[in-house]
Formats: sequence, C-alpha cells, structure tokens
Amino acid sequence: MKVKTEIYIINMLIINCLILSCKQHKMGNKIEADAVIEQKIDSLLSLMTLEEKIGQMTQVRHFDDISEGDIAAKFIGSVIHTQGPLPGESALDWQEKFSALQKQALSTRLGIPLLFGVDAVHGQNTYEGATLFPHNIGLGASRNADLVAKVAAITAIEAQATGFNWVFSPCIAIPYNEKWGRVYEAFSESTELTTQLARASIKGHQGNLLENHTVMATAKHFIGDGATDFGVEGGNTSLSMAHVHKRLLPPYRAAVEEGVGAIMASFNTLEGTSMHAHRPLITDTLKGAMQFDGIMVSDWKGYSRFGEADIINAGIDMVMAVDGDLEDYQEGLKKAVTEGVVAPGRIDDAVSRILRQKFRLGLFDNPFPDQGLVAKIGSPEHREVARQAVRESLVLLKNEANILPLSKDLSKILVVGEFGHNSGLQSGGWTIDWQGRKENYTGATTVLEGIQKLSKGEVIYDKDGTGDYEDADVAIVVVGETPYAEFFGDIGGEMDAYQHTLTETHQKYIDTYVTRGIKVVVVLISGRPLVTTRQIEQSNAFVAAWLPGSEGDGIAQVLFGEDDFKGKLPHSWPASEQDYAGKYGPNFWDKSITPLFPFGYGLSYQ
Ligand code: BGC
Repeated sequence: MKVKTEIYIINMLIINCLILSCKQHKMGNKIEADAVIEQKIDSLLSLMTLEEKIGQMTQVRHFDDISEGDIAAKFIGSVIHTQGPLPGESALDWQEKFSALQKQALSTRLGIPLLFGVDAVHGQNTYEGATLFPHNIGLGASRNADLVAKVAAITAIEAQATGFNWVFSPCIAIPYNEKWGRVYEAFSESTELTTQLARASIKGHQGNLLENHTVMATAKHFIGDGATDFGVEGGNTSLSMAHVHKRLLPPYRAAVEEGVGAIMASFNTLEGTSMHAHRPLITDTLKGAMQFDGIMVSDWKGYSRFGEADIINAGIDMVMAVDGDLEDYQEGLKKAVTEGVVAPGRIDDAVSRILRQKFRLGLFDNPFPDQGLVAKIGSPEHREVARQAVRESLVLLKNEANILPLSKDLSKILVVGEFGHNSGLQSGGWTIDWQGRKENYTGATTVLEGIQKLSKGEVIYDKDGTGDYEDADVAIVVVGETPYAEFFGDIGGEMDAYQHTLTETHQKYIDTYVTRGIKVVVVLISGRPLVTTRQIEQSNAFVAAWLPGSEGDGIAQVLFGEDDFKGKLPHSWPASEQDYAGKYGPNFWDKSITPLFPFGYGLSYQ
C-alpha cells in the first residue's frame, strides 16, 4: 500500500514535471528542463532498494545471460544485442522481442524502462538488409562533418527501427600503431580531425533525444585503446599523462560538450593501470573536470576482468555483465556495498546517471519502438547517402597518364579478384557478424556490379586471376584484407592472421596483368594503410577504398568520373614494414620517418 501511494505521488510529480518541462523546452530553457529531470531522478532514487539500484547498473544480452522472468526479478537496466542468436527474423520480430522485454521491465514496482544497446558502428550492421556505411576510417578520409552527421542520423533511424535506443558508437580512438586490429573503427590518426568528426557523429546520432528516431551515442573506448604498445588490442599504453591530455582527450571533450549519453571504458591499461579502474581519468577528469553527466559503461565482462568493486569505485556506472558474469556481479556488488567497500553515494551517482539518460530519451513516456520506421531500413534515400559516403571516402594515390577516369565506351574491362564481387569482403568486421562476412549479403552492391551498370562495353569478371585474357583495355584489380574485428585483426597479435602487405595470391593478380601489358588500376579494400609501395609502382592507378560497406557501386561511379576523388588520407601511408608501427604523422614525434604519402594526401581529377 505504502509503495502504491508513493508510486501515485511520483506519477503525479512526473506528470506535473512533464508539463513544466514541455513549457521549458518551448522557452528553450535547457537548464530548467534539466532541473526538472534532476527532481524526477531524486524522487525515483528515494524509492529504490539496493537490489533495484544494482539492477539498473546491470546490462545483459537478450539470450544466454537471462532466463524467463530475470528482467523483472533482477531489475535489469539495459539489454544488448551483439554476436549470437538474432532477436528474430524481420525487423518487426526484433521490435516485438525487445518490446516483450520492455513490458517485463515496466511490470516491476517502479516501472523503469530498459535501454537497448547495439554495436551499430557503420550503420545498423547487426541487421542484414540495413544500410551499411564505410567504416569510420573511410569517413575520416571524406573529412566531411555534415556527411558524418547524416550517416549517424540514418544509423539512428535504422537502429530504432530494429528496436534499439542506444548505439555503441562512435569509436573516437586515435590509432598510433596500425598493427592494431581496430584502426578502421576510428576516424583518423589526427586529433583535430577526430575531434571534429566525433562532434558531428554525436550530433547526428542523438539529435533531439526525445524524438523516436534518434539514439543515445557512446564515445569509446576511454582511453588509449588505439595507442597501446605494438598495437595490441587491450594491451598497455605507455603514454605520459601530458600526452594523453594533449592528444587523446580532445575528442572526448568535444563529445561531452555535444552531450554524449555514454562513454565506454577501454580494455587497455594505461601505464599499468586498468582503464576500467582508472579513477583519476574516469572520475576526476571525465566526470569532474569535463563535467560528463552521462553513463560510464564497462566493456565486455568488465567486472570480472578488471577488478570487480574497484571499477565501480573508479566510476563505472553500468556493467556489461555478460557471458556468465551476471550472478557474480550483482551478488558481489551488493556485498561490497554492505561491507562498506563501495559507498552508497557512489551507487546513487551511478543510478542517477542511468535514470538521467532514460529521462532524456523520453523512455518513461515512450518506451516502445516505432513500427513506422521499419520501412526506412535500407531505403533508397539512405543508400544514396551511403553511396555518397563511399565516393567521398576514396583516396586516389596514383593516376599515371590520367588513366582515370575511365571512359564508359571502353570495349573490354576486366574486374579481377574475389573482392571485386563480394559485399561481405568489402565491408570488413562488424558486418552482420562480429567478424564480418565473406559472402554477398542482402541489399548490397559490389564494385563489379557498379562497373557493369555504367560501362557500355564488355565487362569480364576474373574472380581468381586465372583467366587467360590478353587484350583488355584495363584490368581493375580489387585486393585487400579479409574481414576482422577486435584482437582478431592485430598484426603479430594473439591470432597472427594478418600482415602488413598483400597476400601472395593478391600480389599475383596484379603481377599477372602487369606482365601481360594490360593497364592495371588497383582498388585496395583495407581497414588500415598497408605497405603497398611495390604495387603502387607497378600499377597505373591506385585507389585506397578502405571498407566501403554496402554501396560498393559507389566506387565505380568515381572510377568512371561521375564524381571526383575527394578523399584525403586519414593516416600517413607507410613506405615499408619498418615504418608501419612508427610514431610519425601529425600526432607523433618520430621526425626521422618520411611516409610514402603524408597525412592529408590525395589526388583528384582537377
Ligand atoms: C568491444 C566493444 C563493443 C562491446 C559490445 C567489446 O568486445 O570492445 O567495442 O561495444 O564488445 O559488443
């Protein structure tokens, strides 16, 4: 009875506050609107038990981590979808699955809605049929902040259409060592460019959070993820604090200024201290000096991997309690609070931050996804923006005797290599599956298809470079890195599956056609600059295409001159394997290395 009366009072308070907050929005008085949210948070917090608070601080997957009834029984605060069983077949099925979980959350005593998070890092890439954009490295090459904002806004729509209100994007790392397997998730090696595009991306994702087609964004991974020694994912970063402040923090400052809802802690250590447990940087710098008032979320199994209660004391507000961590986390944190290891005030701060974002997103009033958005998934308008992003991301490194643009009237064009007609290979990791796809997927187009669409002559596909064609006008040889994500892509790392250079097979494709005296245009599909000095010398033209995503035909549009090359290198391009890991380029200090092409290089037709 007591609780029911309290709920009535809080509901009335919320309604009154909402009326007030609408008026305040109209008056454009953000500070007062924020004050209303703070009142709501305090009221709600005063009613919550410790179990309910710890529940809010818990994030789980929609499968395996939870059984029937757990959302309500464990007061879960957030659900994520990453690799693993799909929530359903169609987008509507996904929405239904998440709505069912939302109903469970709403059925609890206080009815606090769930946040649904997804790794939508280049479009809603967990849903086959969504519009997939170039990975961030390609957007970094475009240097087009307006375009980055549009890309993020579309990602938000397609993420909402599949049931999510939160994305784990953008990655605003500054990769120092291109051996790192996540270079492509970041925009650039330049702090300035990353800062500018981080701002645009957060604006694009979050827009007006109360609208049902925007999502909460996450800046990740805080901090030093791209600057580990030898480029090891989750390794140690040996950088001075002064360097961290000067080179790595500016994009986070911009993200906070844009009101980013969440920041994710990084797997790496910094000078030996785990970033999940780094109180000076998380609590003092980010939340204190920079006034970040959103959610500091852990990364995968952060609690068991990085110091249990220590990470909460350092300032982590929500824990990805996945893969068997749920029980230990909830029990462990409760014990830590009971025994005085974690102060109740820390728990209240964490929960306030989570509730704040739920209020900002309007989830208490509008907790369910909008079915009307489903029709927008992979729509022609969205794909046209993705195609523009592909065109603007391409960097022309060589164009001997103006072999490009190609004439549409050429009588015979060869397209060589399996990357020429495989949308999975051209899209990199985080494409439908965590480690990406190696085959074509729904709705995407390839380089070959783009060339077939535009050429008026004969187009021949020599998939494995074994065709005995002696007399073509040009061979467009498409080569690159097979998809990878996270530590799988580290060069010389745990998996050791990748290298600085092209594979022998891909080298052979180029050699074959160069030897036959056919003009060769190389299109390189890769998540980072590779050492391609020899191939650049051999070929007549060379294009760095990064990981374009679903609209591969955009590449053909530029090859045929329907648009100019606008991309500029987001990373300095190494001349040899020795420089690969070198600290050179705009952020670095090794002036003894001269890259093959400097940061910002890129030719055009004019
Ligand atoms: C990655 C994050 C990602 C998370 C959830 C982690 O392994 O480091 O970038 O957001 O998984 O899938």
